[in-house]
Amino acid sequence: MYCRALKTILPGLLFLACYSSAQAQELGDHRYTSEAIQAGLRIYTQECALCHGPQGDLVDGVNLRLGQFRNVQSDDDLRAVVSGGAAEGRMPAFDFDAEELAAVIAYIRAGFDPEGVAVRVGDASRGKTLFEGKGNCTDCHRVGGVGPRTAPDLSDIGLRRTPANLQLNLVDPQAALLPINRPVRLVTINEEVITGRRLNEDTYSVQLIDSNGQLRSLQKADLASYAISELPSKSPAPFDADEVADVVAYLLTLRGVQ
Ligand code: HEC
Ligand code: HEC
Repeated sequence: MYCRALKTILPGLLFLACYSSAQAQELGDHRYTSEAIQAGLRIYTQECALCHGPQGDLVDGVNLRLGQFRNVQSDDDLRAVVSGGAAEGRMPAFDFDAEELAAVIAYIRAGFDPEGVAVRVGDASRGKTLFEGKGNCTDCHRVGGVGPRTAPDLSDIGLRRTPANLQLNLVDPQAALLPINRPVRLVTINEEVITGRRLNEDTYSVQLIDSNGQLRSLQKADLASYAISELPSKSPAPFDADEVADVVAYLLTLRGVQ
């Protein structure tokens, strides 16, 4: 916070100092600590398991372990439900301090796994604005039938990836890159140069989306060269930890045709 407040006054001067401390805190800022997850296990067992069950699935329409809720989306929503109660008192309001709240949320977000990773989930509507604006995500990605095809279609990404995987994609795309999605550059024996993103490959052929968004299938026998890039096709998203949490929340709402 200190750092962010100063940045708005002296953007250029303080950039380096803030950047290095942001780097050092990268994981801490984006995730709950494992101490919090373990404290959350204790609180959950004492205060919540009676109604929600040890697996979090005893209340109709709610599965806490899998992150399936009726109304809750963000971590702030979770805090509000736990502090305020729900369903006209069928769930009581809990008088927890900030640390206890963070702990029980961490345990839920870690999927009830004390060894797990608990990614912070922010506000989906702010995330949508960032996705379409500052993040330039729609320059490459398609959602709900709108946008280019050069990068993976994200229309149902919320069903296919975990919060931890989505967060990694934003913070460190190199580490998140699936081997099959690698950028490729092919030259055919007719000297056509094709760049794109590999979708599939077997012994004799390779399928890709080329840079014009066309699906292509090529026989390896027709290729003069075939290079697979080890570099990801994009840089980390230009977001701070809160913005990453918001965009993760938005991506989790993308669940295909509703
Ligand atoms: C006395 C029973 C009871 C206890 C104890 C209880 N809950 Fe609930 N909880 C409920 C019921 C019932 C609902 C369903 C509310 C509804 O139908 O919308 C619920 C709903 C929820 C929801 C889902 C809200 C949504 O949008 O779907 C969350 C999250 C939740 N509880 C978390 C907790 C946590 C964390 C604790 C422990 C700190 C806890 N609950 C303790 C009964 C309980
Ligand atoms: C320059 C183009 C480009 C931009 C801009 C871009 N991406 Fe990507 N993204 C890709 C490509 C290409 C891949 C496939 C993996 C790779 O090659 O790195 C990908 C992969 C992903 C994946 C993983 C898909 C899967 O199936 O697992 C997610 C999630 C994602 N991007 C989200 C975003 C978000 C959110 C933004 C905006 C902050 C964004 N991307 C901006 C090109 C882009």
